[in-house]
Amino acid sequence: MAGLAVNVDHVATLRQARGVDYPDPVAAAVLVELAGADGVVVHLREDRRHIQDRDVRIIRQIVQSKLILEMAATPEMIGIALEVQPHQATLVPEKREEVTTEGGLDVVMHKDSVADAVKTLQAGGIKVSLFVDPDLNQIKAAHKAGADVVELHTGDFCESRSPKAMAAIQEAARLARKVGMEVHAGHGIDFRSIQDFIGVKEIQEFSIGHSIVSRAVFIGLDAAVKEMLALARQV
Ligand code: PXP
Repeated sequence: MAGLAVNVDHVATLRQARGVDYPDPVAAAVLVELAGADGVVVHLREDRRHIQDRDVRIIRQIVQSKLILEMAATPEMIGIALEVQPHQATLVPEKREEVTTEGGLDVVMHKDSVADAVKTLQAGGIKVSLFVDPDLNQIKAAHKAGADVVELHTGDFCESRSPKAMAAIQEAARLARKVGMEVHAGHGIDFRSIQDFIGVKEIQEFSIGHSIVSRAVFIGLDAAVKEMLALARQV
């Protein structure tokens, strides 16, 4: 019975495409919660290409479940997180030129700066997740850095649907749970690929955005969230 946190960035992407004030990701946050989601996710990017500062602040005030703020570990974002107080911060790598987050955070390479960011956020009362590739060295480094949660990057698996990529996720999830971290998973998961995770009991929560918002265009956000939630609950 895994949880489901719904990322509403793509509602903001549609708004920003026209530079108008609709559709509002704040309204989407309310609807996904009413549909039963376990949390709302927003990624405040340095270039503010979709989610804006005002979205994060308002969603924080109205959210009844939990707000998960995806962010780069920069001084600006850490300052915003400490002020806004999301229930969880998920540290992700960020490149200006990418279409979406590409690859997990390299915690092995940046162990000191990541550990500092984790410590600062936790000292401010925020639970910290690290978005990492399903690689045992990254899991060990995330644990050493003091992370409460690892979010396993499922992008490679969702593209290939290969047994090898799934085995890497299972192994990483097992190790993360063994050392006492919470295990989340996300990126690229759709209504078909989530079914491949049934039986991977270590996964406690999924973070899914694009496929849900895309399906919502045709069947509505409430129905799209409920469908994905029913699938997540089978994992
Ligand atoms: N998890 C993280 C860390 C992400 O950066 C994203 C994309 O914003 C997601 C999950 C959700 O990915 P998708 O939109 O492909 O479901």
